[in-house]
Amino acid sequence: MARFRILVLNGPNLQLLGRREPEIYGRCTLDDIRRQLEGRAAELGVEVEFVQSNCEGELVDAIGAAPGRFDGLVLNAAAYTHTSVALLDALRAVQLPTVEVHLSNPAAREPFRAHSYTAMACVGIVAGFGADSYRLGLEGLVRYLERRERSECDESGS
Ligand code: DQA
Repeated sequence: MARFRILVLNGPNLQLLGRREPEIYGRCTLDDIRRQLEGRAAELGVEVEFVQSNCEGELVDAIGAAPGRFDGLVLNAAAYTHTSVALLDALRAVQLPTVEVHLSNPAAREPFRAHSYTAMACVGIVAGFGADSYRLGLEGLVRYLERRERSECDESGS
C-alpha cells in the first residue's frame, strides 16, 4: 500500500501543453507529465492522482473533497494562481500540505504573474524547471510528509 496519496491538480489551459507556447512551457503534454510523475511516485512508494480542469469551481471542489482521500497536493493552478482568492480559501480550509508548481518561472515574466494567491497557503513552490517542476514538487512534498510523520527537524538529511 502507498505511504502517501497525493492529488496533482492542474488548472486552466494545461490540457493544451505540448502545443501551447512551447517556447515557454516546453513540448511535454500533460499526459507525458502524468506518466513521468506516476513513475517517480512508484519509486517513492506513493500514489498520485491527476486532475485537470479549466473551471475554478471544479478545482475548489477537488480541494474541498481531498481531506481523508489525500495526504497532500501538488498544485499548478495556472492563471488562477494570480487571481483566485477562492482557491486560496479552499487550501486554507482543508489544511493539506500543498506544493505549488509552475513549468515557467512566473516571477520572471509579466508583472501580473509575480503575485500568487495560492502560494500563500503552500508549504513551498517549485517554478521554472519545465516538466521537472512537477517531479521536484512531488519529491519536496513527500519529504515534507515524511518529516512531519517522524516529527523530524528540517536539517535531518535522512
Ligand atoms: C503556469 C504559469 C502561469 O502564469 C500561467 O498562467 C499558466 C502556466 C506555469 O506552469 O508556468 O497557465 O502556471
